[in-house]
Amino acid sequence: MNLYKYVSESVNEKLGTSVNLEVPRNREFGDFATNAAMVMAKTAGKNPRELAAEISPKLAELPFVAATSIAGPGFINIKLKDEFIWDSARHATDVTPAADPMIIDLDYGAYNVAKSLHIGHLRTSIVGDTFNRIAKLLGHKTYSWNHMGDWGKPMALIIAWIERMHPELPYFQDNFDPNTTVDFEINPDELNTYYPAASQFARENPEFQSHAQEIKARFQDGHAGYFALYEKFLQISLDMMNDTVRRLNILPFDYDLGERNAAKYLNDVEKILREKNLIQPSNGAEVIVVKKDTDNAPMPPYMWTDSRGADTYDSTDLAAVYCRKKTDNPDKIIYFTDLRQSLHFEQLFRAADMSGIFKYSDFEHIGYGTINGADGRPFKTRDGNAAGLDDIIDVANTAVNARVRESGKNLDSDTVSAIALAAVKFNDLAHDVRSDYIFDPNQITSFEGRTGPYILYTAVRLNSVLKKSTVAESENYYPITSDERQLLIGILDFERTLYSAFDNRATDMIANYAYDLCQLINTFYHNCPILRDDIDPATRGARLHIARIARDTLAKTIDLMGLKIPAEM
Ligand code: ARG
Repeated sequence: MNLYKYVSESVNEKLGTSVNLEVPRNREFGDFATNAAMVMAKTAGKNPRELAAEISPKLAELPFVAATSIAGPGFINIKLKDEFIWDSARHATDVTPAADPMIIDLDYGAYNVAKSLHIGHLRTSIVGDTFNRIAKLLGHKTYSWNHMGDWGKPMALIIAWIERMHPELPYFQDNFDPNTTVDFEINPDELNTYYPAASQFARENPEFQSHAQEIKARFQDGHAGYFALYEKFLQISLDMMNDTVRRLNILPFDYDLGERNAAKYLNDVEKILREKNLIQPSNGAEVIVVKKDTDNAPMPPYMWTDSRGADTYDSTDLAAVYCRKKTDNPDKIIYFTDLRQSLHFEQLFRAADMSGIFKYSDFEHIGYGTINGADGRPFKTRDGNAAGLDDIIDVANTAVNARVRESGKNLDSDTVSAIALAAVKFNDLAHDVRSDYIFDPNQITSFEGRTGPYILYTAVRLNSVLKKSTVAESENYYPITSDERQLLIGILDFERTLYSAFDNRATDMIANYAYDLCQLINTFYHNCPILRDDIDPATRGARLHIARIARDTLAKTIDLMGLKIPAEM
């Protein structure tokens, strides 16, 4: 239930207005407040405070209102009936589905074949996954696309590198028969070293570089040997990607289909583009001019083919859009990548719009900022290398382990991993996706403050109270105290938060809601004893009921972030 919306709509209906409800700083006098009198005073030509005095009794007539009062220049405070709050809270997590359910393609993860995952892949995975879960909970039909990088220069460099190490292998012959069985295995641990080694070597050896370019062209033309080799490392990469998905506890992708799959649609797209005369030659390459007269910033052309006639990141991305049209026919396609790809997506959206495959407004790019170290520069490992995704998780694990040891707790390694993952993911989600943030393993693993471990700890504690109690929880009406009231109202903000997070594409709202809810839960926990001997059974039963819906709401919120609540902490 969306309490805010319910009260808002009722107030507006009663007054014939459409004003936003406000949440008063001091909740003692009202659970909500409205500036309706101030807004209406203008047209009515009345003094706002006088008008408030007229309106206030009307609002008091609403069946769920206990009392109204006037504050300041004409605000009206609305205090809800305890009973209404109590009854509503039962439905706190029954979410009314979106009135306009959409089909949404979500492009995130987008890992690269045979290249280790870098730190940037963390944010796309975490934010994309949480957004996906939010959209699903609101009743949208989503499809997640892991648009893998598997068609470009890195593939060619890796093939060239293997050729350099094993020139005797048959894969490199032009007449390679795909039915040949070759006695050759790639060591998965070594695979990730091939790309950095090969690209370093290519920088120093122009011959190797241009050989790789040739391989790329022939690979894209369907060279059987290159393809057989590629299939080998593709499999290893897919396994690694799945492992990452498991480690990050994100939902499995609906499609692990990237550039290579998209390339199958290039001919269809080219036909559309040629018919509309959108492809132009440019210095040996072919481009789509996406610049508009109204542009103030530079808007380079979109590369359809490069100067060697090869497919590009641009062309396969446009083909991928076409593929999605054919596959899911989505109402929206949302991409989650590093902010630095903003220009690429602006170009893509324009090209897709010009081609008529989708409208410009069907697309969105959510660009995220950089994860930095304490020095404000992109986070590095101890040895000074750019951090990979695994490094981040390992660093967090080490920090949690140290804390656990220090505190004398005895937690198994699965629990430590769950806490470390929560630390990393929560911290990522709690920041505005567009801004950079500093990754401080010590801060994010603290059990206090705005951290993942604090959120989990609160949930674990509630679980333990609920488990320990032997009395039945009571759903009977019970006059609630102020702390109970704030908690229940916080719980009743779940649905509104969900909608805001979706509408604003702001996953940080979920993380911050989780934190606010935990604060309310902990205040309740301290001030409203449940299991203490002197608590009468009726109060205990009612508080257990509150604790249970608080736990359910928190657990749902935790699930949206893809975190796991450990059995103990
Ligand atoms: N594979 C790219 C990378 O690792 C991101 C791809 C994003 N998605 C897309 N459709 N271009 O940076």
